[in-house]
Amino acid sequence: MKKIYFLFLSLAIICLAFCRLNDNTKASGENRLALPMSDSAMIRAAANYKNYCAGCHWEDLSWFEKRPWKYGFSVEDISKSTRIGMPDFGMPSFAETFSAEELQELSEYIYITLNLEAKERKDFIAGEGIYETEKLRLRPDTIIKDLKVPWGMAFLPNGDIIVNEREGRMLRYSVDGELLSEIRGLPEIHSRGQGGLMDIRLHPDYESNGWLYFAYSYQVEKDGEGWNTALMRAKLKGNELTEKQLLYEGIPGSTKGVHFGCKITFDGKGHVFFGIGDRGFMERAQDLSNDCGKIIRLKEDGSIPLDNPFVKNPQARPAIWSYGHRNPQGLVINPWDGTLWESEHGPKGGDELNLILAGKNYGWPEITFGIDYNGTIISSDTAKEGMEQPVIYWVPSIAPCGMTFVKSDKYPGWEGDLLVGSLRFNNMERLEISGNRVTHKEVLLNDIGRMRNIEVDSEGYVYIALENPGMIIKLVTEK
Ligand code: HEC
Repeated sequence: MKKIYFLFLSLAIICLAFCRLNDNTKASGENRLALPMSDSAMIRAAANYKNYCAGCHWEDLSWFEKRPWKYGFSVEDISKSTRIGMPDFGMPSFAETFSAEELQELSEYIYITLNLEAKERKDFIAGEGIYETEKLRLRPDTIIKDLKVPWGMAFLPNGDIIVNEREGRMLRYSVDGELLSEIRGLPEIHSRGQGGLMDIRLHPDYESNGWLYFAYSYQVEKDGEGWNTALMRAKLKGNELTEKQLLYEGIPGSTKGVHFGCKITFDGKGHVFFGIGDRGFMERAQDLSNDCGKIIRLKEDGSIPLDNPFVKNPQARPAIWSYGHRNPQGLVINPWDGTLWESEHGPKGGDELNLILAGKNYGWPEITFGIDYNGTIISSDTAKEGMEQPVIYWVPSIAPCGMTFVKSDKYPGWEGDLLVGSLRFNNMERLEISGNRVTHKEVLLNDIGRMRNIEVDSEGYVYIALENPGMIIKLVTEK
């Protein structure tokens, strides 16, 4: 008995070594060991599966096949997923439930039953699979793995991808996902809660002027305690940020870790727009003397455009373009008609898609379709004189994150559509837009992961930043 046990353990160790190899390389799966499992181990594992897993993953394990794998499907990956659990998705950790051998058996049982070895041979990259959608067959191609929380993405003219991690790292990758370097020379970034290093965008004429714009949370010194959102531009020299210009610092500070904004967009007519959230104090969104709960509009050099709506109001911050926002997490110009679209996280049931007009009040917290997350009513009003209505609102809240118009011919049938990521439902919405109305909505890429951002590269391909685990995927179509 002991001998068998020893043999089994050695095999397990060998297998682990192989899985690790396969994880780090994209080499083909040749020379892999088939996993022999004793009958008794198989029976034990099947019983454990039935008791502890079948409730959520179904008796025949088919749950695992209805969606692409997100965290890897080697024995080691399955074992890790089971050990740590998926607290954000309601799967408990099983670290205390099973012994190391039981965990190993269970993972092998899943691996063997689903014939994952064959899958692993042709498909090494977590997160791949085909999604059937109304108009297209889509294959998410994992380009970058092993990120913490990825936020902004920017595509340099040579194809390199810059990825901002919320924690404060700006990373440069090659077009096929090889980490080239970490960019140095960033300002001091206060990474806390939802704040940290956020969006990054190339100036529309980047090729001639080299300006990179990025947003981050900074420690406020003059205007109260805490942190707020700042916008900076700089040029890349090698892997160093140079010629840094601080363009804007939102005020006042707040020691709360929520609602920093900050997505950036350009109108191509000399202006840069970005959003700052209410920083956890909802009443600030209605007060024009601060930057919280506002969409800000600057000239590209950071100066205030004289045609901003509140420049003549001595009580107002002159950079404000619109107000009454809770937490803007999507901001994009419609490339056909130049209109500015914004998505924001409302309270429960109050997420909004807005068409942003100069000087308008979008109502938060005076009017909202949502209620507070703890169940209390924020406002019984959904409309008021002088306050704008959203184009659409989401019930339940999807936590819209990242938004882009499809302009290229890479996704036939999607031209002109607005793609909106969902941080909460781990999927994406495709909105067909006609003028200022949404005429059709399709929910796609179900369960692909917490969607933090959506961007397009210079060729028009859509890239999606996912959290938990942090990765960047490129959407490609299949025949
Ligand atoms: C209460 C429900 C629940 C139970 C019980 C549960 N899981 Fe899960 N599990 C989930 C959910 C939900 C996910 C998907 C998480 C996500 O989408 O990120 C998941 C994900 C996984 C994954 C990762 C799949 C991937 O895409 O990479 C593995 C592996 C897994 N579970 C194994 C198990 C095993 C083994 C057991 C039993 C010991 C178990 N789970 C029990 C809910 C559960």
